[in-house]
Amino acid sequence: MIEIRPCSGFEELDACIRLQIETWGYDESDIIPRKVFLVTQNIGGQVFGAFDSEIAGLPQRLVGFAMSLPGVKFRCGEAPEPYLHSHMLAVREPYRNQGLGTRLKREQWLEALARGIRMMEWTFDPLEIKNSFLNIHKLGAVARRYLENFYGVSSSRLQGGLPTDRLVAEWRLDSPRTKAALDGRASAPLNNEGERIVVPASIYEWKNSERDRERARAVQLENRCRFQDAFARGLVVIGFTRDAEGNGIFELEPLHGE
Ligand SMILES: CC(C)(COP(=O)(O)OP(=O)(O)OC[C@H]1O[C@@H](n2cnc3c(N)ncnc32)[C@H](O)[C@@H]1OP(=O)(O)O)[C@@H](O)C(=O)NCCC(=O)NCCS
Repeated sequence: MIEIRPCSGFEELDACIRLQIETWGYDESDIIPRKVFLVTQNIGGQVFGAFDSEIAGLPQRLVGFAMSLPGVKFRCGEAPEPYLHSHMLAVREPYRNQGLGTRLKREQWLEALARGIRMMEWTFDPLEIKNSFLNIHKLGAVARRYLENFYGVSSSRLQGGLPTDRLVAEWRLDSPRTKAALDGRASAPLNNEGERIVVPASIYEWKNSERDRERARAVQLENRCRFQDAFARGLVVIGFTRDAEGNGIFELEPLHGE
């Protein structure tokens, strides 16, 4: 039985910090401290935890969390729009691939909509095939911005020493695309104007091996150019699929509406 609910009290926030370190292997310079979690809870952000209450008699154990910060979007000629920047999502290794990451995002979605917030964003590494699948396919986010080496050098073990390039996921919370994705309905296939950008399944191995890291870097550089070029031409990442070998495929096309 996994319960998803807002974290409360120092103990539960400390558990988020421990899971953060366990997940990313951050050193001191990269850790988001408890104070920031506390502040975000008090200024309109979110800290949701996934708690395993299976073991009777023992306190609930944190096995996942999602943390977001409040922000405001300013667009020329429009009223400022409050939104959430979802900064972290983590699920403990043995609990992964059981839908918990999706449930945490769904909880963020529900709570934000209940407060009248219609937009959430976060950044993600376009070399991470699983995360891209989760963000674009399962949640229905789109991406049209590419940030080169966004965080600078990172101590995250998931980064494999590569530049911290990121796509920005835009999650329009009340859009038909989001609702369809959360209901498990697949998005329409690419039309003729569409393009594809591929991430080889071996990328995880390459990133983690001294010998093959240059191959991962080459994919990152090539895809960086392709994303930037496609975005400059008005294309948007609107779909993500996996082929039989586990390669990840971004699908881009012009986005009308939303
Ligand atoms: C990203 C993360 C939070 C996802 O949590 P999770 O509980 O495993 O997510 P879910 O089970 O809801 O969804 C994962 C989906 O990816 C799929 N998946 C698993 N491995 C995959 C792979 N190598 N390639 C593509 N998809 C993959 C799963 O099958 C599942 O889809 P399905 O439900 O349709 O079968 C978790 O993997 C994690 O903590 N990763 C490390 C930290 C991180 O990268 N955070 C995200 C930063 S944006």
